[in-house]
Amino acid sequence: MTSLVRIAPSILSADFSKLGEEIAAIDAAGADYIHLDVMDGHFVPNITFGPPIVKMVRGATKKVFDCHLMIAPADPYLQGFADAGADIITIHAEAGAHWHRSLQAIKAMGKKAGLAINPATPTSVLDHVMDLVDLVLVMTVNPGFGGQSFIPLLDKISDVRARIKATGRDIDLEVDGGINPDTAKQVIAAGANVLVAGTAVFKGGPSTYASAIKSLRG
Ligand code: DX5
Ligand code: ZN
Repeated sequence: MTSLVRIAPSILSADFSKLGEEIAAIDAAGADYIHLDVMDGHFVPNITFGPPIVKMVRGATKKVFDCHLMIAPADPYLQGFADAGADIITIHAEAGAHWHRSLQAIKAMGKKAGLAINPATPTSVLDHVMDLVDLVLVMTVNPGFGGQSFIPLLDKISDVRARIKATGRDIDLEVDGGINPDTAKQVIAAGANVLVAGTAVFKGGPSTYASAIKSLRG
């Protein structure tokens, strides 16, 4: 099990008019992963960006590109995100019936595979895919927007941690939505080791990125 807490700033809250600079700034400020929220206006009620933007900003950092796909279907776009430079590709269990196949496809592309679950989705969807996942993403807001309030699914996070422990493998447990220094402590105590944060990292501007990231590590 990974003991260090990793911080994955979500660029959803960055200034998109200078995205490359924003990514370089969070890299310098100590971000571990760069969390890229991809939305399609169909699976979630918001639209962000696709592989061309990921490819354009890939040169801004060497840090892990953690692509959170909130799109349905996902399968036709997996290769595009892999080619654009994603390191981790996370799909949603709710985005289609064949998430086992999608995870297999991501692994076959030589990328790390993540499975995300919405607040209302039971952890039992993980039952037969734990051997395929490198990351489990527990959503603590309903996906689609930054700046929402944290839903305290702490028992659910602990349940996923127990499932990960049972595999004996080094699988990331990522939590996304409403993370701030207070909720960060709660999810770390429940077993999370990767924290996504948009508002909490970006709200004060570049001069505060380093202190904001530090304050989430618990
Ligand atoms: C929500 C996204 C999150 C979001 C988090 O659909 O997946 O990554 O940007 O934003 P905050 O940290 O503001 O809740
Ligand atoms: Zn996300």
